[in-house]
Amino acid sequence: MIAIACDHGGYQLKEEIKKYLEGKGIEVKDFGTDSTASVDYPVYAKKVAECVATKQAEKGILCCGTGLGMMLCANKTEGVRAICTNDSYSVKFSRLHNNANVICFGGRTMGIEAVLYNLEIFLNTEFEGGRHQKRVELYDKIL
Ligand code: RB5
Repeated sequence: MIAIACDHGGYQLKEEIKKYLEGKGIEVKDFGTDSTASVDYPVYAKKVAECVATKQAEKGILCCGTGLGMMLCANKTEGVRAICTNDSYSVKFSRLHNNANVICFGGRTMGIEAVLYNLEIFLNTEFEGGRHQKRVELYDKIL
């Protein structure tokens, strides 16, 4: 299961991502928000972060205006490694080396084609482990 949430700035993008994933038969748990009415992104970031940290969700997706507020908030939850980038190489290596488990997108800064392309990479690239395992464990100890 994939957890997803957004604020008003990411609402449209969240809806498109959700439709795309559900169309592929992937189970999505939607934590809102459910409209373009103004809300506070930390509230929604926390819901997905907790769901991922407790391993109820395999991975999380967060959308706001830039993706940045969501990324900052999600990374405050222990066990969450959230990224925000439009660069496919970085998305790939966030999985291979960093074992990233939340990806953040900007509804005002990123186009749907690139978002879905990067989402596929994020969901389908496995963590390499090995020498990166210890580094991820060290990361997780930084509170
Ligand atoms: C909301 O206007 C905006 O600040 C928010 O969506 C996000 O971009 C914050 O990082």
